[in-house]
Amino acid sequence: MAAILRKYIVVGGGVAGGYAAREFVKLGLQPGELTIFSKEAAAPYERPALSKAYLFPDAPARLPGFHVCVGSGGEKQLPDWYAEKGIELKLETEIVKADVENKTLTTNKGDIYEYGTLILATGSTFLNLADFKTPGADAKGIYYLRDIGDADKIVEAIKASKGDEAVVVGGGYIGLELAACLTMNKIKVNMVFPEPCLMPRLFTPELASFYERYYEGKGVNIIKGTTVTAFEKDDNGHVSKVLLKNGSSVNSTFVVVGVGARPLLAPLKGLIEEEKGGFKVDASFKTSNPNVYAVGDIATFPMKMYGDSRRVEHVDHARKSAMQAVQAIKAAEKGEVVDEYDYLPFFYSRSFNLSWQFYGDNVGETVLWGRNGAAASESKFGAYWVKDNKVMGAFLEGGSPDENKLIAKVAREQPTVNSTDELVSGGLGFASKI
Ligand code: FDA
Ligand code: NAD
Repeated sequence: MAAILRKYIVVGGGVAGGYAAREFVKLGLQPGELTIFSKEAAAPYERPALSKAYLFPDAPARLPGFHVCVGSGGEKQLPDWYAEKGIELKLETEIVKADVENKTLTTNKGDIYEYGTLILATGSTFLNLADFKTPGADAKGIYYLRDIGDADKIVEAIKASKGDEAVVVGGGYIGLELAACLTMNKIKVNMVFPEPCLMPRLFTPELASFYERYYEGKGVNIIKGTTVTAFEKDDNGHVSKVLLKNGSSVNSTFVVVGVGARPLLAPLKGLIEEEKGGFKVDASFKTSNPNVYAVGDIATFPMKMYGDSRRVEHVDHARKSAMQAVQAIKAAEKGEVVDEYDYLPFFYSRSFNLSWQFYGDNVGETVLWGRNGAAASESKFGAYWVKDNKVMGAFLEGGSPDENKLIAKVAREQPTVNSTDELVSGGLGFASKI
């Protein structure tokens, strides 16, 4: 079968795939030059909506409301947008085989495409408790969340819930956001995670204590320092009880699991150099193969600010890395080069009436400022991370857009401090002087 030739191919129609399309159009794209493949049935959308407004009890977000690029204040790219721009968007189509020598890709439908330049944007998938051989993990009523199909199943389970308690497994991003959404849907939530505090990859116990108390105030039962050892099922194979390592158990027919993600490197795994679990790329997101770029969750890229290399599973980087790769590809065609990717890490979450942002690196000593008390349920407070007298990271709960810009500037500039007292007493005022 003759291969279908495309100048550019993007594998993965998620956040990075959508932003790559926009950047190609912005920089000049001829009809027929670009094909995007996506396993999903929907055109690229802003994935963060799925663990937030998509699950709200009132006026939930639905497509086409959150197609890319609305998340960054851009034009919404509906399926027609791709057609108008002459972009072939092949939905529900998985790339199952790659040949980097011949520059070909094979779809699950047996079509063969040949690319000039390939951008990999295949993202991540959730870690499944069945992979950890947790007994009963195949029971009905246990949910994971990565795409709209998963979110729809959770919406159905919320609707079908008849006052039974839910268990949220994991104290990371999914755990935090899903515990809030289920509570908003009037479902009693038990949160179970092995660490001593919520969101352990970013929060210190002091920082976490505000969120833990806030969640407990909303009725969430937080069970820390233990894991799920098994699920019991009823006669219909539906989960009925969650057994914990600490010897206790929770009767529950509704479980949501968020125990981490793993990057999807297939089908190019083994064909491209890897580093730290992702495809190794340079500062323009080019892989070890000069015709192949990798962006978003799957890319391990040089973190210029910190002199190391990292993989980042967050939406801001997915957007920016996609734009950087397309800019580099277009520049290379003119014999030019783009500036190196100089990324400032940015993580955020929203749940209930809470909204926090973090910029930079959470290394060194953590210095809390503001009213970090359970009594002040919606107070503004923050934290700085200080290493070798330099402020490396900044966190703010409840910041306005302008205030969030201030803490971003601190993390970017890494000002020197002689004493952490000036951070405690200055709080946001410290940031406003930078
Ligand atoms: P993404 O996962 O978006 O897209 C990958 C696409 O490739 C998918 O459509 C997939 O089906 C497809 N694909 C994979 N293999 C394929 C193949 N072989 N052939 C064809 N298609 C293939 N971040 C943040 O900063 N703030 C937030 O609030 C949130 N919230 C959030 C909620 C939820 C529920 C999730 C799951 C994740 C977040 N994130 C987040 C993380 C953020 O969404 C994530 O980092 C980006 O979506 C990554 O973008 P990518 O394009 O790399 O992958
Ligand atoms: P995560 O890495 O944020 O959290 C995983 C959590 O799982 C850990 O904090 C730990 O508490 C818990 N855990 C690990 N093993 C466990 C076990 N055996 N039993 C119980 N708990 C266990 O991952 P996630 O929350 O699953 O998120 C998945 C992906 O989605 C990540 O890439 C994340 O960045 C992304 N996401 C991001 C946001 C956001 O940025 N606001 C929101 C949702 C999802």
